[in-house]
Amino acid sequence: MAKDRKHIIEFLDMMLINGSKLSAEEKLCSYKGVLYPVTICRPETLQALETFEAREDDVIMTGYPKCGTHWLEYILNDMSVMAVKYTEVEKKKRIKLERELEITSRLEFGDPGKFKRMENLPSRRIIITHLTPNILPKSAFKNKAKILVLIRNPKDTLASFFHFNNKVPTFPTKTWDEFFTDFMSGKVSWGSYFDFVKEWDKYIDDENVTSVTYEELKENPNLEMKRIATFLGYSLTEDEIQNIIEKSSFKTMKQNGQEILGTFGDLLFRKGFVGDWKMLLSESQNQEMDRKFEEHLTGTKLGERIKYDIYCKT
Ligand code: A3P
Repeated sequence: MAKDRKHIIEFLDMMLINGSKLSAEEKLCSYKGVLYPVTICRPETLQALETFEAREDDVIMTGYPKCGTHWLEYILNDMSVMAVKYTEVEKKKRIKLERELEITSRLEFGDPGKFKRMENLPSRRIIITHLTPNILPKSAFKNKAKILVLIRNPKDTLASFFHFNNKVPTFPTKTWDEFFTDFMSGKVSWGSYFDFVKEWDKYIDDENVTSVTYEELKENPNLEMKRIATFLGYSLTEDEIQNIIEKSSFKTMKQNGQEILGTFGDLLFRKGFVGDWKMLLSESQNQEMDRKFEEHLTGTKLGERIKYDIYCKT
């Protein structure tokens, strides 16, 4: 286990252990009508989130579960280290502080007191979440934090979520057909995929908000990383971008899964490609998804970014 990731890995290990002790009925809690895994998200923490004071130089990345949040998180952290040119001493100091303050890897994870403790973190903070804008604190918008919205085509997101759901004891196990129905009606952790995209679409024209798609990051990482760096005001050389691409490739991250995330790494890095949904969805499920996408997301800017016809129909 990498020493600097010890507190994150311990938190994830605890999540797996605690999840396996609960019955299916006990695993999820509800906050404002949306389900969350009870071992990591507490309603009182979600409520206390309103007290969190975002900063102008915060980087907030939000992605619906299974859209590649760990991947983009890794890229953002690497970019920040390279752009700011932290010395080894500074890097260690920041990590030590995060450990001492018990800062969890997602904004909504952990205890309600963490938001107060986060005030002690030096800038620039990189904050990762799966939340929709109505649950995020108002200060994220008022104080003009930079927000990256990560999206992935719904069929691959669903396929990835189904496998993850059944491998991680934090969630109640489901058959494929049960999970499909739950996903389509938003009765899964963090709620509806369609609501996530629709809600974030309302903010997509804000100058402090940008979108990143899993598929584009996969197909043209060089271009996408340069665009992200420009959005964040980072100046990176071609060599630095290349270095980040190599370190964040699926193969490398999967190989280093244990070091990055401990046991959880073995569960998270699965296939890492586009189109795996073709193995799972039946013809009628494909049609149901096509109709749902048409009804909720066709014509929205984020919906167009998903390139549904390319990634979900061929
Ligand atoms: P699959 O289950 O389709 O393989 P999240 O981090 O939001 O939970 O998303 C997990 C998904 O992102 C998984 O998809 C995982 O394999 C994929 N993923 C993780 N790291 C990746 C990387 N470096 N490149 C491409 N995909 C990655």
